[in-house]
Amino acid sequence: MSGPLDGRVAVVTGAGAGLGRAESLALARAGARLVLNDLASGAVETVAAEIAAAGGQAVVAAGDVGEWSTGERLLAAALGAYGRLDILVNNAGVLRDRMIFSMSEQEWDTVLRVHLRGHFVTTRFATAWWREQSKQAGGPVYARIVNTSSEAFLLGSAGQPNYAAAKAGIAALTVTTARSCARYGVRANAICPRARTAMTAGLMGPPPPTSPSPGTGAVDPLAPEHVAPLVVHLASPAGEAINGEVFVVHGGVAAVLDPPRIRATFQAAEHGSPDGMWTLESVEAALAGLSSGSGFMCEDTLALAAETIGFGRPSDADAPQLRLAAAKIIRSRTADAEERRPVRRDRNRDRRPGRRLRALGARRRGRLGPRSGQAVPAAVPRGRPDTAALRPDRLSASA
Ligand SMILES: NC(=O)c1ccc[n+]([C@@H]2O[C@H](COP(=O)([O-])OP(=O)(O)OC[C@H]3O[C@@H](n4cnc5c(N)ncnc54)[C@H](O)[C@@H]3O)[C@@H](O)[C@H]2O)c1
Repeated sequence: MSGPLDGRVAVVTGAGAGLGRAESLALARAGARLVLNDLASGAVETVAAEIAAAGGQAVVAAGDVGEWSTGERLLAAALGAYGRLDILVNNAGVLRDRMIFSMSEQEWDTVLRVHLRGHFVTTRFATAWWREQSKQAGGPVYARIVNTSSEAFLLGSAGQPNYAAAKAGIAALTVTTARSCARYGVRANAICPRARTAMTAGLMGPPPPTSPSPGTGAVDPLAPEHVAPLVVHLASPAGEAINGEVFVVHGGVAAVLDPPRIRATFQAAEHGSPDGMWTLESVEAALAGLSSGSGFMCEDTLALAAETIGFGRPSDADAPQLRLAAAKIIRSRTADAEERRPVRRDRNRDRRPGRRLRALGARRRGRLGPRSGQAVPAAVPRGRPDTAALRPDRLSASA
């Protein structure tokens, strides 16, 4: 239990199971002392015992992260047990999936409360503490936040309006925290993970019969342990230069997202406006050629690693092709980001690499068969990406 986080103290929410458990164990292995939060169920005590048995230190501060008082108690637990707080990993989450037109007030409120308010409450108290410490020290202090968003917000997840909205909010909260608290030393980033957990069991099914330990043969690409190294890295001194980013991570692949960018700019003056300001007529003229495909979405991440979409394994022939295509996307996006100049006209969207890759992914998915014993989305039409079926965390309310 020694590594880059020696001497550091980390709070992890939702640490009793799934990703939170894997991240807590990894943080402890890297040397951090832990404050573990989850609902009072006994599961989080088991994780604390696992850490202690392996020679680490962990205390439990159970409670609902949506409660203001839980935020206060988590900070107090860190200061009480260890005298400091260095790292906050916001991970706790639940699902209450329903189409927007059927969703109850309670389903909406529960998900927004646990995810978005749950991130806010802990972040509020942690950042207040770090700001105070920074003022006393007369300079930045060591402070890391790793938030948990989801690809659901990138994909316009149809049955998850509450969850997608909360996860989009978490991405925005991450960016605003990063910007507002950088001067105090805070580094805030978010991950969009994929992992086989209680939350995704209905979609991903049981793990394949493989060896659980990397390096000894086949591994389950959807094991939550594969997400934890990025969390540890972002929490470590090596993460100093990384702030305000949103990552997608699963199996053996990670992607850092570009921020939303302008696709086309319209000037009223070029569309018949007498004074250069918008009129209904000039808006109609300007947008006459605009037609939405997927809208404000990012589906590129679906093809990053075919083995972690929750069903099927890539054939030996397909896997390298998909990896190559994914690498091309990342290269082209990096090049685009370097250009960063305003676009004045619609780009030819069909020429964007994401479209080409999606078509490739869809073709390949059409050939995939289910992995034995796995739950498989009912209908994945051949030749067309079924993004609804591929969402890793789209399932009935279960957590
Ligand atoms: N598993 C995936 O593929 C996936 C994908 C995208 C995002 N996520 C996100 O990752 C995070 C962890 O999910 P997971 O897959 O490990 O799910 P999980 O259900 O295994 O674990 C979630 C944990 O959060 C705890 N929790 C729930 N409500 C809480 C509350 N109010 N206060 C404190 N703890 C609470 C649960 O008890 C549980 O231990 C969630 O935020 C989830 O939305 C997961």
